[in-house]
Amino acid sequence: MIILEVELSIINTSVNERRSFICTTADMTLLLLLMLLAPMAQGERVQGQKKGSACECSVDPGLWAFPVQQYENVQQQLDSCEDSLQSLSNQVQLSSARLPYIESVVANVTARLQPHQYLQYKGLYSGLGLRQLSAEIHQLEAHVSAVHSQLNNEHTRALTQEVGKLSESVKRMKTTDDINVKTLKQQVRYLKNRAESCKTIPSDFRGQYQYCTKGLIKNISEPVVTKISPYGKSIISGSWGKQAKQRSEEDQHEEDSYWVQALVSSHIWGNILRVYPNYENFMTSTNYKDYTFAPSPTHTNSIEGPSAVFYGKALYYHCYQSADICQYNLTTNTVKRVKLPGTGVGYNNKFPYCYYDCRTHSDVDLEVDETGLWAIYATMGNHGCIVVSRIIWDSESETLNVTQTWETRVFKKSVTNAFMVCGVLYATRYNSDYREEVFYAFDTLTGREDTSLSLPLEKVAKGVASLSYNPTDRKLYMYNDGYLLAYKPSFY
Ligand SMILES: *[C@@H]1O[C@H](CO)[C@@H](O)[C@H](O)[C@H]1NC(C)=O
Ligand SMILES: *[C@@H]1O[C@H](CO)[C@@H](O)[C@H](O)[C@H]1NC(C)=O
Ligand SMILES: *[C@@H]1O[C@H](CO)[C@@H](O)[C@H](O)[C@H]1NC(C)=O
Ligand SMILES: *[C@@H]1O[C@H](CO)[C@@H](O)[C@H](O)[C@H]1NC(C)=O
Repeated sequence: MIILEVELSIINTSVNERRSFICTTADMTLLLLLMLLAPMAQGERVQGQKKGSACECSVDPGLWAFPVQQYENVQQQLDSCEDSLQSLSNQVQLSSARLPYIESVVANVTARLQPHQYLQYKGLYSGLGLRQLSAEIHQLEAHVSAVHSQLNNEHTRALTQEVGKLSESVKRMKTTDDINVKTLKQQVRYLKNRAESCKTIPSDFRGQYQYCTKGLIKNISEPVVTKISPYGKSIISGSWGKQAKQRSEEDQHEEDSYWVQALVSSHIWGNILRVYPNYENFMTSTNYKDYTFAPSPTHTNSIEGPSAVFYGKALYYHCYQSADICQYNLTTNTVKRVKLPGTGVGYNNKFPYCYYDCRTHSDVDLEVDETGLWAIYATMGNHGCIVVSRIIWDSESETLNVTQTWETRVFKKSVTNAFMVCGVLYATRYNSDYREEVFYAFDTLTGREDTSLSLPLEKVAKGVASLSYNPTDRKLYMYNDGYLLAYKPSFY
């Protein structure tokens, strides 16, 4: 017998530690969909019992044929991103306008769960999950052994040992009933990230930049630049900033250029980069040059979503309706591309930045920090949580390459934007129309995360289309609906 419990009272509880069915409306939709798809026949009745705020029912798992695959999908959504789900549930409490709707969905689902009792998946799910995990660990072993044979240092030795242990415990678990697949999944994710961190990043970069030593932002200033976009307030999506490549001998004159990339077509697509030679020209909107990197805003080389960064003599961005990153070389007027790694990379508005209101098609976000270029996105493989990949331009083979990929536990749709500083990913959430807050950090050097941050940023308007760090002047650049803002973070 399996005991089912449907928590009904999240709206009233202040901090609810348990996973709950109303954490996200996305999960709700899936559940509902699943229920519609599932065969409704054999309506065995099950007696529910109200216990306090929860509803409990006993079910015999042998009674119904069960849509395992669909259920596993739902379960994966529920199992992952618990921190994000927590923050989403807090958000639910804030959003009183949506309460009646959510309450009605909860009531509806609760009513419909009773006759169906899907949670009899438990026994089945562990078996399936374990097989999949086993395959992942196998892959991880191969991966770690490759890294180890290249580097053969104390980190890779330790990793090899830990993966070995993990593999052993999975073998053991296959023969017992007592399985904690979730803990194991976390362990696999953690080891995967450590294997990525072992590969060579310029590992001494934190020595080169003293403020990077601890790698954490302490505080963020009030806006130090505010300007209405040269395209007007009605174009609410795009990116802007200052040339992000560190000064080098040959392109000193490029150092001071400022740029704006506006999504002029449906707030989704664009094909023009506007470059100002310096700050004065930018502030007075004079003397600029427009670069057309695609023949139209809906060409395969056009930009999708507020994703661009201007780095060196090139614009890097998310390419039109694809899982690709594009590089537009301003010197040669050509576009190169590379596919982002991962199972089911989100694009076409699958995993945009959301929180309250989604910023349409903001699935893939390019960033620059002291270590170079990054892409922030989400994958089905990581259950919609943020994935961050390091990207390099190999000038010898003239290709864009993805060198490393880390998987975080923060659900992409539960953050409003993200950026990289000193190899650390920061994510923000909405506080109010005039205030944004950095609440999450993930360090790619250690794989550690911090969910306890609370660094406020003032805004002029509600929506954050893009937020990017610039390592040359150490400022943050925000495209805040039609307003262009910049901030100065300070470091520990
Ligand atoms: C739940 O909602 C569906 C459609 O949204 C409706 O057909 C159904 O009757 C509802 N069920 C209950 C028990 O309220
Ligand atoms: C952070 O910045 C705000 C506004 O700029 C300032 O009022 C506050 O004192 C700063 N806090 C710290 C800890 O530096
Ligand atoms: C642009 O193309 C030129 C010519 O192939 C090359 O020398 C240069 O490195 C490229 N710039 C970037 C930033 O890729
Ligand atoms: C980048 O990818 C190209 C083509 O796959 C490869 O030839 C090259 O060695 C790679 N460069 C680096 C630095 O990984």
